[in-house]
Amino acid sequence: MTGPYVVTISSEKGGVGKTTLATNLAIYLKAIDEDLPVTLLSFDNHFSVDRMFRIGRGRERATVRDLLTGDHGVEDLIELGQYGVCFIPSWRDTETLRGSVHSVADLALGLAGASLSGVVIVDTRPDLDILTRNALFAADRVIVPVKDAPSLENCRNLYDFFDQQGLSRRPLRILPCLVDSRIRFDGPFKNTQELLRAYAINRGYRCLDGFISKSPKVESLNTNPEGKIHPVLSYGRNTEVHQQFIHLASQVFDDMHKTPRRRIASIIAQLEAERESLKNADEQAAENFTDDSESDALPSQSAT
Ligand SMILES: Nc1ncnc2c1ncn2[C@@H]1O[C@H](COP(=O)(O)OP(=O)(O)O)[C@@H](O)[C@H]1O
Ligand SMILES: [Mg+2]
Repeated sequence: MTGPYVVTISSEKGGVGKTTLATNLAIYLKAIDEDLPVTLLSFDNHFSVDRMFRIGRGRERATVRDLLTGDHGVEDLIELGQYGVCFIPSWRDTETLRGSVHSVADLALGLAGASLSGVVIVDTRPDLDILTRNALFAADRVIVPVKDAPSLENCRNLYDFFDQQGLSRRPLRILPCLVDSRIRFDGPFKNTQELLRAYAINRGYRCLDGFISKSPKVESLNTNPEGKIHPVLSYGRNTEVHQQFIHLASQVFDDMHKTPRRRIASIIAQLEAERESLKNADEQAAENFTDDSESDALPSQSAT
């Protein structure tokens, strides 16, 4: 089993463009390859994903909560949405969602159980709670949007999480987002994205190529009389953000093809190895116990 390529969008800061990034990345990946299965899920309870992708009213079905508990039929879990993007419906209450999780590997196990392929994009909340930690643990690629120096400082906690789990930091990539291209500096770094990139590299963080500009047009796509959230691909084609999303999605697409061994497959293999060694230890203990009781029994047999 290879499993899907999991892309987690994470930052402890709110309002840095995570949800916009997650939802639009899904659509741009579909635009690159319409046969690539792309599935999106969010641990936030804002229902942005559902509002953007649901066709019609949708029907009562499983949610991300059922994904985490493993309590679902696969066909109930995945909803085919607009633009050919599939999504797993959100859950309304963050507290009960957190309460459904028992370990950092629950999401990975849920995704493996759902037999997903292609790309899975996970939109997270602006904190490092157990839900975000599950999303980080399962990820082949973590995109960390940063819009300013404080949001870059926050990245340290994500890196620390990888270190604590004994995971390679290789999946983590910083992406300057909501960058105001009008701001210019004197000196070696001419603009905000160059400065953020320099800060990141200085701290040993790796960056994706490019950045996402702040655009009034993109901001306006959330608010319209239809109550929908419109994608940049169809409503913002004349913005520079459109070109930036093409560049971003191409990088993710190429990286996916360069990653034959998926994180989920490693997690499953590791859990199986742990289970196997526990089983062996149990069998060994049982054998020792039998040997002991046999040797205990010998003196009394010889006594009779
Ligand atoms: N490239 C962009 N240009 C302008 N506004 C943006 C851009 N990306 C996101 N926004 C706006 O910024 C706000 C926060 O974005 P959002 O994606 O919800 O961030 P987060 O999920 O990190 O809280 C929203 O109002 C959104 O419309
Ligand atoms: Mg969000």
